[in-house]
Amino acid sequence: MNIKISKANKIEGVIEVPADKSITHRAVILSSIAEGCSIVKNYLPSDDCFRTIDAFRLMGVDIKQDGGSLIIEGRGLNLNKPKKSIYAGNSGTTARLMSGILAGQNFESVLTGDESLSKRPMKRIIEPLTMMGAKFNTDNGRLPMTIIGALNLRGINYKSAKSSAQAKSAVLLAGLYANGITTYNEPIKSRDHSEKMLRAFGADIEVKGNAVSINRTKKLNPQNITVPGDISSAAFFIAAALLIPHSHLTIKGVGINPTRDGFIECVKKMGADISFENITDICGEPAGDIIVKYRELKAVSIDAQIVPRMIDEIPIYALLASRAQGTTKITGAGELRIKESDRIAAVASQLKKIGVEIEELEDGFIIYGGAKREILGAQVESFGDHRIAMTLAIAALIAKDDITIKDADCVNISFPNFYEVLKRLCF
Ligand code: S3P
Repeated sequence: MNIKISKANKIEGVIEVPADKSITHRAVILSSIAEGCSIVKNYLPSDDCFRTIDAFRLMGVDIKQDGGSLIIEGRGLNLNKPKKSIYAGNSGTTARLMSGILAGQNFESVLTGDESLSKRPMKRIIEPLTMMGAKFNTDNGRLPMTIIGALNLRGINYKSAKSSAQAKSAVLLAGLYANGITTYNEPIKSRDHSEKMLRAFGADIEVKGNAVSINRTKKLNPQNITVPGDISSAAFFIAAALLIPHSHLTIKGVGINPTRDGFIECVKKMGADISFENITDICGEPAGDIIVKYRELKAVSIDAQIVPRMIDEIPIYALLASRAQGTTKITGAGELRIKESDRIAAVASQLKKIGVEIEELEDGFIIYGGAKREILGAQVESFGDHRIAMTLAIAALIAKDDITIKDADCVNISFPNFYEVLKRLCF
């Protein structure tokens, strides 16, 4: 599907963004391997999350959708051998986190994915999980991948050179099945939803700085979980309000976990008018209403230290940088090359097409800002990547002429009704 989006005069209203994708995956996973019935309220009904739900259904877990909730009859840590391969679709989180669980099972399983996921590296989970005692057969460290689980995994002390919440979570999940203590160290703290939720389900887990240790667990206890709104989805609307004069937006119930709030920190430094109201704790995850008003922005560069806290928001941050006063350098973001698309190449090529002065670096960009150069109308490519499609949709709101986005329905990966919500807010 192609979609054509026109300039907007302002963005105004009160919205709720869909539930957090990372937290929904984890809620489904831990509920499925707990003993008894868990309820996951306000889950994200998106393509990626259905891949995780379907994977557990295939292994004998009863998961019912009841309005906005999932009712999950967890069957404990040991699952049924799936009768066919597990299809992770476009979802890196499904593939990598599931690998941690499958590593501890008494059976062999096969994980497959779509074209994009089949190009993404799995070595980051294969290496530690092999050290723990599981076996993997892959062609070049990519999907399809056969996982030969082992009943007696062993705990390891693993130092990762990269900060990846997916890799960390895979090792911690395998740690539930491993003898002794499993410790995972990362250079900069990545999102910590797994640690928080594992603790809530009763796992013996300890966090010391950037090291997380987990002990073998006999049983997880079912929980009632409410998933907050996804800050990564909210970022697109925050950006829209910051780009279009006279805009004023309230986004309700957004997760503001400190390991995910790098985008907010950076846009505040750029001069954004953002405030928070009604801050609460939703199942151990801080959440609140975000109020944002239009403001002129100044350039703020970012580097490796903050990248893990805003990894999925960098494409939309690049668009903001193109309108800010001054030059923005984004470095330390080489991981973007191996996301759902090569997001460095995708952002640079498509923003260039619409008139942005942007240079591609191996691990980021240089963006020459200023509102003087107009954003132009064009036909642009999403590369089937949800976050690229949404970034270009926001760019269209400030473009001189219409922007047509190709393969635009990929937003279903994380934000199924994105275009309807956008339409409702635009005046
Ligand atoms: C995620 C972790 C991040 C992020 C992805 C979701 C997660 O990936 O980009 O969208 O749910 O753990 P990496 O672990 O590859 O950094």
